[in-house]
Amino acid sequence: MDFVTNIEEIRKRARRHIEEGPVTEGYALDRKQVIRVLNDALATEYMCVLRYRFHYFMATGIHSASVAEEFMEHAREEQAHADQFAERIKQLGGKPELHPSVIAERSHSEYREGTSLADMIREDLIAERIAIETYSEMVRYFGDKDTTSRVMMEGILAKEEEHADEMADLLFAVQPDTNQGSRRLYFSDETLGRAENEPVRS
Ligand SMILES: [Fe+2]
Ligand SMILES: [Fe+2]
Repeated sequence: MDFVTNIEEIRKRARRHIEEGPVTEGYALDRKQVIRVLNDALATEYMCVLRYRFHYFMATGIHSASVAEEFMEHAREEQAHADQFAERIKQLGGKPELHPSVIAERSHSEYREGTSLADMIREDLIAERIAIETYSEMVRYFGDKDTTSRVMMEGILAKEEEHADEMADLLFAVQPDTNQGSRRLYFSDETLGRAENEPVRS
């Protein structure tokens, strides 16, 4: 089939299923499965919004003001991610699942309150690491079969890595004696080029 015929065929198909919005017959993944996967990520983001906001209100102690600010900034960014997921789900002909019980059941990460500032940061770091792992898997899943979702996912993944890095730095700042622990938690086999004794940047 030459290129022109191909274009005409594509145009014909686009007209045939015009009500399906941006989803064409050429969509190479199982649409229902993609929507399910995106809804899981949406639930994860909402869980993170709630946890970060709780941490924002509950942060106390001498470092609390700057840490609380960071919590709120992350809460806002997780909300923006949630909106991106919801929009993409809608584009693919699905329904963003925002029922609280669905969010609680499907989120990859958990709602952990924590009992101290360091504890809160640690919980957030763990949640970020879970998101990094599952979102990396999703990037591979979309591959070149759904480029739009993959590019969106890559952007969000980069942000989660930034969040995890910031939480690791904060954990060190509020609890320097957990340096070894937090470094192991974050850097074991995934060193980002920082030497063992190099100071963590603020
Ligand atoms: Fe996020
Ligand atoms: Fe995050």
